[in-house]
Amino acid sequence: MTERFSFSLHATDGKARTGTISTTRGEIRTPAFMPVGTAATVKAMLPESVRATGADILLGNTYHLMLRPTAERIARLGGLHKFMNWDRPILTDSGGFQVMSLASLRKLTEEGVRFSSHIDGSKHMLSPERSMEIQKLLGSDIVMCFDECPALPATEEAVADSMRLSMRWAQRSRDAFGDRPGHALFGIMQGGVTRELREESAKKLKEIGFDGYAVGGLAVGEGQEAMFSVLDYAPGFLPEDKPRYLMGVGKPDDIVGAVERGIDMMDCVLPSRSGRTGQAWTRRGQVNIKNARHQDDPRPLDEDCTCPACRSYSRAYLHHVFRAGEMISGMLLTWHNLHYYQELMQGLREAIAAGGLDDFVRRFHALRTEGDI
Ligand code: GUN
Ligand code: ZN
Repeated sequence: MTERFSFSLHATDGKARTGTISTTRGEIRTPAFMPVGTAATVKAMLPESVRATGADILLGNTYHLMLRPTAERIARLGGLHKFMNWDRPILTDSGGFQVMSLASLRKLTEEGVRFSSHIDGSKHMLSPERSMEIQKLLGSDIVMCFDECPALPATEEAVADSMRLSMRWAQRSRDAFGDRPGHALFGIMQGGVTRELREESAKKLKEIGFDGYAVGGLAVGEGQEAMFSVLDYAPGFLPEDKPRYLMGVGKPDDIVGAVERGIDMMDCVLPSRSGRTGQAWTRRGQVNIKNARHQDDPRPLDEDCTCPACRSYSRAYLHHVFRAGEMISGMLLTWHNLHYYQELMQGLREAIAAGGLDDFVRRFHALRTEGDI
């Protein structure tokens, strides 16, 4: 265990990188996928099971936890790690993104965002200063700046104004965060799909100085092609010696494409959320376990997978428990999906370390079939 937050690169292959982030709560192997534990739980999973899938770090959400059970209550109970029984690193998002998508009656000003809770309508305020305070109360290891992610489509002028507001908020986040040894603060690049705005945003963040840099404002409906075209240049605007985190991404092929373009960290609700809606992700493609064609199938979801769902249960069983609304359905499919995502990350890390990423990516695409398999 180290006393400080640090990042060391072990190998690169093209633009792709593999390395280790060291924190006081343990190491994070990169490229890393962070399962989402919005409400102090990765839904349907025990923390030890999440760890068993290979996760080094979880994501938590300022917005949800400030409303329920409140950051002050979590702090009184010893912090988020103790509260949710996860002693490894936690990254918390700042609330800037969730407040715009979930809260009602939002009022955005230079100061921050006033809003009503989507849970009970109660009134709250989020600002850079309040977001830093909440993430400190939670005991987050990696704190995210308070930013605004504009809803797309938006005019270039609106995206530019929003990005510049986020950069002023990034400075205020930095000032409010202060000096907290062992805790990291990440800046968030905005600027939509405009190269000049991305460059301006990165320049501003680098001037302020952060422990890591996120690419925000993507995976908001622009499509994979537009996202990849931003990722063709945006990571190159960021320092090489700091982790680069792509927020809210994605499907397995989005992750592979992002890693090829120099991204080190990602998070997404997809593997856990789709596990609860009967969708499984495998190396051969997607399986929709709801489909009646699985009802007599004695084979596992994926013959090559070593997760508990694939080792001990048939597609017929997984279909049955989904149809019957049994809780084990979400548990098994979430476990499988998280296991698959972590195995993909391990494969990417090993391929980069061996200088064989191109081959790995070719095999990744060759094995996959579109549609339900
Ligand atoms: N999650 C996905 N995209 C974003 C973003 O642009 N900002 C923040 N704070 N969180 C995100
Ligand atoms: Zn499996």
